[in-house]
Amino acid sequence: MLNIMKTLLREKSGQVVWLSGASSGIGFALAELLLQKGFRVAVSARRREPLQKLAAGAPDSGAVLQLPLDVTDREALATAYQTLCSQWQVPDLVIANAGISIHMEAADLDYAKLKQINEVNLLAAMSMLQLPVQDMLQRGSGYLAGVASVAGYRGLPHAAGYVASKAGLIAFLESLRFDLEPHGIAVSVINPGFVKTPLTERNRFPMPFIISAEASARAIWRGLKKGRMEIHYPPALSLLLKFMRLLPYPLYHVLVRTGTKGRHQGKVEN
Ligand SMILES: NC(=O)c1ccc[n+]([C@@H]2O[C@H](COP(=O)([O-])OP(=O)(O)OC[C@H]3O[C@@H](n4cnc5c(N)ncnc54)[C@H](OP(=O)(O)O)[C@@H]3O)[C@@H](O)[C@H]2O)c1
Repeated sequence: MLNIMKTLLREKSGQVVWLSGASSGIGFALAELLLQKGFRVAVSARRREPLQKLAAGAPDSGAVLQLPLDVTDREALATAYQTLCSQWQVPDLVIANAGISIHMEAADLDYAKLKQINEVNLLAAMSMLQLPVQDMLQRGSGYLAGVASVAGYRGLPHAAGYVASKAGLIAFLESLRFDLEPHGIAVSVINPGFVKTPLTERNRFPMPFIISAEASARAIWRGLKKGRMEIHYPPALSLLLKFMRLLPYPLYHVLVRTGTKGRHQGKVEN
């Protein structure tokens, strides 16, 4: 516990964050917030323009390092990490946030799409988070976080590939925490409910308790500041789903089937 205190985030400190999925939605809003809080933020995503926009809008343009890349390209991730370390330093916090969602009915399960979802949401997140571990261990401090989802808590209809990728990321981060915390490295899993972003704007079903990307960024920041193992929000939805995790399978299935009836025509999940 004493060790972990070294990793706590301090505002106006110039501490270094590396964030993927920074070009849109939750990642873009979080990058803006971290910049306002006085962090230096290395931002990654495939699209360059939004990253340039972040740099242009930052209180200090030197506080943004643009590292455009495709997170599924392992070499590109490794090169970006080296650039970050040589231009700035070993990051204090790494957040694997990039993610995609592809709607798929069970009748149309497609291996290529399942692979794509899991490559971006799970394997690329593991790959990014693994990169700084040796350096953080050597330094004796650091913080790793990944954006999973409340959708990863338990099985859901019409979302097998997405749910599996998020459940995997939750399990990965929960396990890493055991191994890394004794060495001064904090690990958090971030599980948002519905957030208004391009990812959810195609959804054609009701999204209870949906919040803005800015509110999502604030919830993440509050959780990171406290080094919480799990940062989940909004509580009205996340606590309900946590409770539902405890239910026996038959009851859970009946409740979810009833609650999501007619939604199979909709698209995408959270
Ligand atoms: N919105 C929600 O309700 C919700 C709820 C729970 C969890 N989440 C999770 O939150 C994270 C952010 O989602 P969002 O809602 O903010 O969606 P979004 O607005 O669509 O943002 C997704 C981000 O991921 C990046 N990305 C996707 N594929 C990439 C790739 N191959 N390489 C590099 N970057 C890639 C995108 O950048 P480029 O396209 O520029 O590459 C974009 O910056 C995701 O992991 C998502 O699963 C979202």
